[in-house]
Amino acid sequence: MILSIEWGGFFMKLILCEDYDELSSKAAQIVAEQLKAKPDSVLGLATGATPVGMYRILVQMNRKKEIDFSKVKSFNLDEYYPISDANTQSYHYFMKENLFSKIDILPENTHILNGLADDPEAECERFEEMIESSGGIDLQVLGIGQNGHIGFNEPSVTLNSKTHLTPLTESTINANSRFFERYEDVPRQALTMGMGTIFRAKKIILLASGENKNKVVSELMNSDINTSVPATMLKLHPDVTLICDKTAYMSQYLGVDIGGTEIKFGVVDSSHKLVHRESIQTNCTNEKKLIGDIADKCREIMEKYPIAHIGVGTPGIIHDNKVAAVNLPFNNTELEKKLSSYLDMPVKVSNDANCAALGEAVCGAGKSAKNIIMITIGTGIGGGIIIGGKIYQGRGNAGEIGHMCIQIGGKECSCGLRGCWERYASVSALVENAEKAAKDNVDSVLHSIYNKNGELNGKLIFEALEKKCPAAQAVFSEYLHYLAAGIDSLILIFDPDMIVLSGGITGAGDKLINPLLKYVKSDIPIKISSLKSDAGIYGAALMGE
Ligand code: GLP
Repeated sequence: MILSIEWGGFFMKLILCEDYDELSSKAAQIVAEQLKAKPDSVLGLATGATPVGMYRILVQMNRKKEIDFSKVKSFNLDEYYPISDANTQSYHYFMKENLFSKIDILPENTHILNGLADDPEAECERFEEMIESSGGIDLQVLGIGQNGHIGFNEPSVTLNSKTHLTPLTESTINANSRFFERYEDVPRQALTMGMGTIFRAKKIILLASGENKNKVVSELMNSDINTSVPATMLKLHPDVTLICDKTAYMSQYLGVDIGGTEIKFGVVDSSHKLVHRESIQTNCTNEKKLIGDIADKCREIMEKYPIAHIGVGTPGIIHDNKVAAVNLPFNNTELEKKLSSYLDMPVKVSNDANCAALGEAVCGAGKSAKNIIMITIGTGIGGGIIIGGKIYQGRGNAGEIGHMCIQIGGKECSCGLRGCWERYASVSALVENAEKAAKDNVDSVLHSIYNKNGELNGKLIFEALEKKCPAAQAVFSEYLHYLAAGIDSLILIFDPDMIVLSGGITGAGDKLINPLLKYVKSDIPIKISSLKSDAGIYGAALMGE
């Protein structure tokens, strides 16, 4: 699969491979094409585990006389310092073992920095000059370190342009210790081509394979150019091809948040960044049309982003993987099954409030907490329970906290029961009580606001509270009393690390939280959602993690 990725106006070609074997043969093919087009090419070569497969294929091609190295010159990216050529971990040894001793390249045409040079500075200068006098590198092969280094250009505030001696970071010493017998044996310094040296290559291929490159590839794709991930500098080069296998790349998840008026889609990467977001209108004509619209948009996004997993949040009740939602054409719809088969990839469906709770727990207000209860206060009250960082679904429908009974024989609820919490602590309940109080207290500020607007809403009620209207204060106190009672019950049952509140009313911020805290008995932190309306797409996407 070949994609073109745009990075703030710059384009990079991406060859996405199924596995390491395909990556190796795609990379070898590019090197072979280079040698066929220009037999006296100057190659920039890399070491590390990643290019080993590519070298193996090049050796086979050379043996079959499909490619010829006899006129090729090579310059290696880097070498440890100090290290002798004979050390089995030196890059001299590596190149001899994996390539040079097996192909028809002339030894005098291969150049690797001297790991025992008395004067490393002079050695670096000599190396730069040799590259220059050979006409410059035609094709540079690169790997990438887990911290984003290329060659041994380590993350730093400033990057060196020319070939130089550099200290190695702890992260690189750790990563490379796998090749050495003992951690202490890993050299603490290295000689490396500089960013400018690499940058002057006419063409660059950057290889990344395996799960341990997942995070850095995602950073490379989604961060701006910066010196703490040196590979991001390559975005400025006009001819770079990133060759990646799926395990290095597949760290992006697609989250879909179905709502009554719009359906939101978001791509979240392994560093939990929302890298793409868009929405479509909800067309409720029938189940087929709605699922078709969702599948079409997912497919469109999957063409741009190689998605590892899709998660969907939907309103309604989910039992036995069947969704029933009042405001959507879902009537025991097997949404998970249908979307998985349309899209030919795993899809997970959960209640939208559960997804929002997961989003907040993993990357929002509840980031530091393992167990959270999220309470969504709107027309009704929804909830999501996260235990140990995962959604608690019960048999599929857990988290319907708005319908726990707070008043035996109380107000009738749309669910058919009486005394449900949402009849007392939702925004609709607050508005209903405030409108009644406005009518009953004709001299109140609340009454005049009501008269002027012909209705009340959360914002107007807070306006009356600002003006210290006693009628509004009485309604609000009663409201907080019920809201707090429900929160205390939930805390008693789940003993969570944190309660997260969401919904339009939380826009009031401290004007809601401070008075609420006076009513809540427990001292567990109560925070307001930080992801706001994106919590659902985050959570839906992260169900795949
Ligand atoms: C070393 C080399 C780099 C290489 C990196 C990644 O530090 N100096 O040139 O890209 O390791 O190696 P691997 O492919 O083994 O992950």
